[in-house]
Amino acid sequence: MKGTIVKCLEELVTEKFGAEKWRESLERAGIPEWRTFTVLGDVDEAEFMRIMQGVAGAALLSMEQAMDAFGEHWSTVYGPKVYGAYFSARSARELLLNLDHIHEVMTKSMESARPPRFRYEWRGDKLLIMHYESRRGLAALMPGLIRGLGKYYNEKLTARVVGNAVHVQFS
Ligand code: HEM
Repeated sequence: MKGTIVKCLEELVTEKFGAEKWRESLERAGIPEWRTFTVLGDVDEAEFMRIMQGVAGAALLSMEQAMDAFGEHWSTVYGPKVYGAYFSARSARELLLNLDHIHEVMTKSMESARPPRFRYEWRGDKLLIMHYESRRGLAALMPGLIRGLGKYYNEKLTARVVGNAVHVQFS
C-alpha cells in the first residue's frame, strides 16, 4: 500500500499531539528508527495497522477513535491539500460515487499500487451501500474517511461497517 496513507497519519499525529508522540507511535509499532516513509513508497498493510495501534496507544485513543481521527484528517486536511482536484466534487455524495473511479485512475501510473475498488448499491435514495473490494481487509478505515467527507462538505451523514460493506445514510 502506498506510503501516502502513513504520511497523512504522521501529519495528523505531529500536528495534534506533537513529534514526540509520532516517534512513540512508531516505537510502539516496533518500527526501526532508520525506516522512512514516502508518499509513493510501499507500506505493508499489517505495518500500517501496527502504526495505527501505536498511535492509539501513544495518544490514549481507542482504535476506533484513532481510525476516525485519521479519516477526518485525510478527508478534511490532507486530501484537499494533496489531491485537491478530486475535491472539486460538489457534495460528499458526488465524491463518494466517484471514489471507485478516483482510486482506479490515480493509482494507474503508480508502480505496485493495488487500490481498493468499490461497488455501489442504492436502497432508496438516501441509503448507499458501498461494497469494499480489496484483499487488504481495511474496510474498518472507511467510516472515518466517509464521516470526514461529511464534515468537509458540511453534510449530515452516518457511516457504519456491515460485513464487507459500508452503509452510508444521507439525510
Ligand atoms: C479523493 C480522496 C481520496 C484519494 C485521492 C485516495 C487515494 C488513495 C490511495 C493513493 C491509496 C493507496 C492505494 C494503493 O496503495 O494501492 C488509497 C487507499 C485506500 N483508500 Fe483512498 N483515497 C481517497 C479517499 C478515500 C475515501 C473517502 C475512502 C473511504 C471509502 C477511501 C478508502 C481507502 C482505503 C480503505 C484504502 C486502503 C487500501 C485498501 O483497502 O486496499 N479513500 N486511497
